[in-house]
Amino acid sequence: MKLLSTILALASFTIAAPGPQPQPQDDLSSRQAGSWPFGPFVTSAGKIRDTTGKSIVYAGTNWPGHGEVMIPEGLQYQSIEYIVTKIKSIGMNAIRLTFAIEMIDQIYANNGQDITIERAFIQALGQANGTRILNQVLTKNPQFTASTTRLQVFDAVAAELAKQQIYVHLDNHISKGMWCCSGNDGNTWWGDTHFNTANWVRGLSYMANHGRNWTGLVSLGLRNEPREPTSNPTLGSQSYNWQSLYNFHKQGSLAVNKANPSLLIFLSGLNYDTTVAPFFDGSTLSPGNTRFSLGDFSGYANKLVLEIHNYETGINSCSSLQYNLFNKGFKAMTAEAKIQFPVLLTEFGFAMDASTWRGTYATCLASYLPAQKAGWTIWVLAGSYYVREGRQDYDEGW
Ligand SMILES: *[C@@H]1O[C@H](CO)[C@@H](O)[C@H](O)[C@H]1NC(C)=O
Ligand SMILES: *[C@@H]1O[C@H](CO)[C@@H](O)[C@H](O)[C@H]1NC(C)=O
Repeated sequence: MKLLSTILALASFTIAAPGPQPQPQDDLSSRQAGSWPFGPFVTSAGKIRDTTGKSIVYAGTNWPGHGEVMIPEGLQYQSIEYIVTKIKSIGMNAIRLTFAIEMIDQIYANNGQDITIERAFIQALGQANGTRILNQVLTKNPQFTASTTRLQVFDAVAAELAKQQIYVHLDNHISKGMWCCSGNDGNTWWGDTHFNTANWVRGLSYMANHGRNWTGLVSLGLRNEPREPTSNPTLGSQSYNWQSLYNFHKQGSLAVNKANPSLLIFLSGLNYDTTVAPFFDGSTLSPGNTRFSLGDFSGYANKLVLEIHNYETGINSCSSLQYNLFNKGFKAMTAEAKIQFPVLLTEFGFAMDASTWRGTYATCLASYLPAQKAGWTIWVLAGSYYVREGRQDYDEGW
């Protein structure tokens, strides 16, 4: 309830005035430029623009689908249609839909066939609870059966979001399906225990291509929260740096653009994606001497967007928070940057209790983001997780 008022305040300032809104269709013909979502989107300096030239500002929420089950969360409690209607009712226009690379690895391991949701629930929750939760999902979402696949659930989520004209941003959140993120979870950095670079490229291509028939899919994030592999100091000292990150982003973005040239591609930064400064400020990408160059993204330089996260929830100075957000990210939207990009705050969040929404962090973001005309997706939509950190039906306090 309290969240609602904060979000409404954000949403009413942030969302661009609606353009013409013909009814969406669920087939490829709706990808044409003349109907919603008026894609493909392109960037122009610090803005995202649709085919009508309108500036697009995302105002939305994260919808996790990267946990152990690898199915979008919450469907044991509500139908997809109900959830999307709620999102729409508070004025949101975008979903950051997260996925794990492991889902695609399993599809390849299974001769190209995705596994059923029955198997996915049982694998992740055990026979008894997996069957029970599956049955709850089927009761709430009777269009599915036990033999529906995970990707068909993603398809159904995307189709309902399109029906209600909400943009989809796909986010590669993690490699192994599980709660993210820590320095020792094996998913920190390219080459970490669960983070195979070739599988990552393959998974990005697969989802970018699969999403071609999702009417509302407009963008894809290459990797959530790159971070130092604290349990693997050798890997850290060899490659945890801006130069390597830049090279991985070049590799990932090329694969995504090849698989689906219409997508905007979101680039994240070091230290849990809390800064992307070296990408826009013209500095050398340490430890090397090269700099970010749009020429390295030939043919799709107008598809690149930067994303940052901020969880400085305890901060007690709004001007400090604004200073950090600007210098680590949002400066890229202004003429002060060497290279201009649109920037989104794709994660922030706070406890949904009686008072936190009144605090400095939440109120400061609620005024700062609209003032910058910056897009955002809050953490998080899910009221609970099928399983998180070993606990089933984990309640989400944020
Ligand atoms: C199965 O679900 C019950 C009820 O939610 C829970 O108490 C129990 O811990 C779950 N089993 C496992 C293995 O997590
Ligand atoms: C994409 O195609 C699948 C079948 O191939 C279909 O079930 C799904 O609804 C489609 N998604 C959208 C958004 O049209």
